[in-house]
Amino acid sequence: MAADYDRIRQVGRRLCTELATQDTEGARLLKQVLGRKGVPLRAAGYSEALPVDNKSRLPLLEVHETPDVPIFLDELGRSAFEAFLADATHFDKLVAQGIASRLALMLSGPPGTGKTLLAGHIAAHLGRKFYVVRLDSVISSLLGDTAKNIRSIFDFVAGKNAVLFLDELDAIAKMRDDRNELGELKRVVNTVIQGIDSLEPSAIVIAATNHAQMLDTAIWRRFPYKISFGAPEYDLRQALWFHFLGDDPAYEVASRMLALLSEGLNGADIQQCALAARRLAAHKDEHVDMWGLACSLMHRQAGSFASGTVALNDKRRLIETLAQEHRVAQAEIARFLGVTRQAISPYLKPADNGN
Ligand SMILES: Nc1ncnc2c1ncn2[C@@H]1O[C@H](COP(=O)(O)OP(=O)(O)OP(=O)(O)O)[C@@H](O)[C@H]1O
Ligand SMILES: [Mg+2]
Repeated sequence: MAADYDRIRQVGRRLCTELATQDTEGARLLKQVLGRKGVPLRAAGYSEALPVDNKSRLPLLEVHETPDVPIFLDELGRSAFEAFLADATHFDKLVAQGIASRLALMLSGPPGTGKTLLAGHIAAHLGRKFYVVRLDSVISSLLGDTAKNIRSIFDFVAGKNAVLFLDELDAIAKMRDDRNELGELKRVVNTVIQGIDSLEPSAIVIAATNHAQMLDTAIWRRFPYKISFGAPEYDLRQALWFHFLGDDPAYEVASRMLALLSEGLNGADIQQCALAARRLAAHKDEHVDMWGLACSLMHRQAGSFASGTVALNDKRRLIETLAQEHRVAQAEIARFLGVTRQAISPYLKPADNGN
């Protein structure tokens, strides 16, 4: 951790000797790494001293790595995302023409819709370091320290050409409820505003909030770019299901059916349901049990599947929902559930069999 090359080589060589008897390939790889010349240890990135809260001594911000989940957005969100990236990439040109705005982006919307994820993707796309501030942890119990914490965050990122992400920005507005000291709230809001104003124009600030209406208009004005998130629509849900079921063409029909059944769920819910179902399947070395997954969605028991048999009533309700409410053809329902069309029709009343 202290970038002490000699010690690392010394310990590494000892490890090599010990490994050699049990894992020759591992020992060879380790030796190869140790033998490499002129490779600087990346100590600077790891030992970077982050500003801390005076009382708790906890860091006020964290460095996050590139996200490993792709971001799925609706058309409006995608075009706003791309416009922001384009403006950030060609910022100098916009400045030269006098049409640049501060690169500050506000993400608002309900939990679990991908706000934090999107911010991570922006940093990754632009190849910038991604500093994440959880504002609720910055709010100190010591009077006066909150503003001080916020100031040290902005001082820290100044000139770093990074992406500063202020998560849960509404935590500041909530101080209004928790404390009677309105003076301090005002001071904190002003410190955020001053912080944003103090950064170089090409700095990128992204903020996220679940309660857009709680934010001060003076803060809103600092963010010329805005993306608002909602519960995902059908197309988006379908893309999310397909991805989280493993990008497997075998689950193409399933993704469409599950998207019909999951109105109101957000991206995080869909991820959890899909992964839970895949884990269950993995233990049994089987494909995902669509009866179980679909029925648990109908019951809105996201993530908790009754493994084993699905009750007859639930099967009936599932098939009725798809056929009657969503007007899905019986052949399609059969493909989704991995049964024959003949197995589907008995569940539907004779009058509805023609679908
Ligand atoms: N639109 C999406 N595209 C891809 N994955 C998503 C999307 N929405 C949610 N997810 C999945 O859910 C996880 C949680 O999303 P994220 O943390 O970005 O939500 P959030 O909007 O920041 O929620 P909160 O307001 O609670 O912080 C993501 O890491 C991702 O795996
Ligand atoms: Mg978040």
